[in-house]
Amino acid sequence: MALPKTLMCEPELLAKDLSGRVYIVTGANSGAGLATAEQLVKQGAHVVGACRRVDAGEDAFAGFGSPSGTAEVMKLDLGSLASVRTFAETFTAKHDRLDGLANNAGLMGVPEGTTEDGFETQLGVNYLGHFLLTELLLDTLKARAPSRVVNVSSVAHVGTRRQVAEIHLDDLTWESREYNGIMAYSESKLAMVLHASHLAKRLEGTGVSVFSNHPGWVRSNLAAGMMPGWANRIWNIILRPLSRPLGTLSAFEGAQSTLHCLLDDDAPNHNGAYFSQNSVLYPNRENRPGGWPMSSPNPHAHDEELAEQLYDRSLQLVGLTSDA
Ligand SMILES: NC(=O)c1ccc[n+]([C@@H]2O[C@H](COP(=O)([O-])OP(=O)(O)OC[C@H]3O[C@@H](n4cnc5c(N)ncnc54)[C@H](OP(=O)(O)O)[C@@H]3O)[C@@H](O)[C@H]2O)c1
Repeated sequence: MALPKTLMCEPELLAKDLSGRVYIVTGANSGAGLATAEQLVKQGAHVVGACRRVDAGEDAFAGFGSPSGTAEVMKLDLGSLASVRTFAETFTAKHDRLDGLANNAGLMGVPEGTTEDGFETQLGVNYLGHFLLTELLLDTLKARAPSRVVNVSSVAHVGTRRQVAEIHLDDLTWESREYNGIMAYSESKLAMVLHASHLAKRLEGTGVSVFSNHPGWVRSNLAAGMMPGWANRIWNIILRPLSRPLGTLSAFEGAQSTLHCLLDDDAPNHNGAYFSQNSVLYPNRENRPGGWPMSSPNPHAHDEELAEQLYDRSLQLVGLTSDA
């Protein structure tokens, strides 16, 4: 079976001069986030890598080849609302503009656990940490608009072949359901799609555009959370390099959808939309080539009332409104 074509940014877009622009990329020390950061720096931007391990970020950034822009690493642990607040304060004290925020960091299929604030780990890190981060940076994004926010979601926001992912507003954080690591990942990624579409609506007229995307099946460290260390070593050394014929992508290819959302002139005409790299994991064949943008096959991703309720609930959970 022929694999769908990898969607790539036009060469002119990846040669656009980004001098003077400032971007934040979360999880920038590895995988698609690192490739996104490197490309933005190559085009002259200043990139703040928001990493939970600052030394890993600095090591990774030291490998950038002949950059014309600049980069720095700041500590951000999305599993701690206090860390998110400290990051936002440090960033805004230092920078008065933010041209693009790539909410890229993520965890997948990790064993049951909670963040520092007691949220199920994947919902807490993938969604709620990024939700708070975005809220705290909105004034800076608006101040120098046009600017953009990209939520790096996943094809997994659709769910599995057996189960469509849903948002359980009565139990977002898996307190009263039997834990399922794959569905918890899916729900956190569906929340990111709903967050992008609703925030885009709230920000209409401000010049801030918001998107979600699926970066593709990227040969990265993401699967490490799902397997013991020995299995991850076998995957990395033996299977990962051989997986290309299955449709896996390099980190640079995996950065394309995010770079398109951050840089393409036409993207703001699709404010709130979902942009997908190809994926053999879409249940329906017609979705597999992806699209910039494309309509999410998950009906819940189009439920505007649900998106608004999720937004309000998220504000409460991250402590931006009272529970009253
Ligand atoms: N790979 C795929 O096939 C695929 C498919 C669909 C969607 N995605 C999404 O694409 C994004 C990038 O993933 P990737 O494939 O490039 O994986 P990756 O190489 O594992 O990168 C994930 C990044 O997230 C960071 N991160 C994890 N927990 C964090 C926390 N609590 N606070 C701050 N940063 C944290 C990691 O930091 P550490 O290095 O410190 O762990 C790492 O930098 C993720 O959101 C993922 O869900 C990936």
